[in-house]
Amino acid sequence: MRPALSLLAAALAPVAAAQLYTLADAYVGTEFLSTWTWQTIADPTNGDVNYVDLGTAVSQNLTYATLDKFVLRADSTNVVANGALGRNSNRILSNKAYSDSVAVLDLQHMPQGCATWPAFWSLSQTGPWPDGGEIDIIEGVNLQSGNLMSLHTSPGCTMPATRTMSGSVTSTICDADYNSNQGCGVSGAPLSYGADFNGAGGGWFAVERGNATGIRAWFWSREDVASVPLAVRYPLVAAVAGVSPDASWGEPYAVFPMSAECGYEEHFNAHQFVFDLTFCGDWAGSAYPTSSCPGSCTDLVNNNPEAFTEAYWEVNGLWIYTPFGQPASPNPPPPS
Ligand SMILES: *[C@@H]1O[C@H](CO)[C@@H](O)[C@H](O)[C@H]1NC(C)=O
Ligand SMILES: *[C@@H]1O[C@H](CO)[C@@H](O)[C@H](O)[C@H]1NC(C)=O
Repeated sequence: MRPALSLLAAALAPVAAAQLYTLADAYVGTEFLSTWTWQTIADPTNGDVNYVDLGTAVSQNLTYATLDKFVLRADSTNVVANGALGRNSNRILSNKAYSDSVAVLDLQHMPQGCATWPAFWSLSQTGPWPDGGEIDIIEGVNLQSGNLMSLHTSPGCTMPATRTMSGSVTSTICDADYNSNQGCGVSGAPLSYGADFNGAGGGWFAVERGNATGIRAWFWSREDVASVPLAVRYPLVAAVAGVSPDASWGEPYAVFPMSAECGYEEHFNAHQFVFDLTFCGDWAGSAYPTSSCPGSCTDLVNNNPEAFTEAYWEVNGLWIYTPFGQPASPNPPPPS
């Protein structure tokens, strides 16, 4: 081969191409109001919370949307009435479900503070839980430092103890039946959660899921804006060019490889996304006594509305990209 051609071949050949994903849905501002469902269910995690419907949320300004902002907040003005389920808050579910995908969340603020337990996550549309899997993308309680990402699955899904990622392994057994549904977790840097996250002006989370890549997550603080991939920072660019998570995205903070120890197709199917914010309950409540928070968890929630002024999600947008050339996931029936 002539030198010029061999150089060209070397330039084209080496790296296995990253999967290209193209925009499926852009959830920005008021778009959330028509494409997500406000779930008024009793909190399955036994929180001191009353999940309101969309009408109540809008009338009490617990849900607020403009063309480019979407806010979900806890009631921070009223004492919880005797006999009420708990503090008013939101739990919302995307009407659409997605399998292989890249989800990019640009988040300005997440709920923070004593007694809070916010989560941004996805779960199987078919279940029954934990069949089809649960992927907790953002989760924490009380004054926690650093985000906890974790998977909860049916039996037979275990993660390697050592992985190439910036986060720290908290547990490796994803089976929800093990250790009171602890799941397999990875804990991220302080800036990825709570007061530190908010103090930096938020940041971006991205999660890729697929049989070949496994489940991988990246986080970039607003402080590290120079390191954010253009396709993450500028969704209008990604709407045209798509996204291809590759080495230029930097090291993921959490990696959950799929293998014989955890088969992707066996444990994960199409998921709907959830934003919620509960209080106390199974995790924030049980961790409260060792959290450096004052008094009792339920007393704080019921009688101190002013403690919840920072208990809100402020979402700049959520963009879901699906593999180029692959059919879309089947979707659940519309909510009744
Ligand atoms: C509702 O909440 C939004 C977002 O926090 C805020 O900008 C707005 O002023 C609030 N509206 C009222 C009527 O309180
Ligand atoms: C998924 O990955 C496994 C290996 O982890 C492989 O055996 C299987 O063929 C893959 N399935 C598809 C549809 O590519």
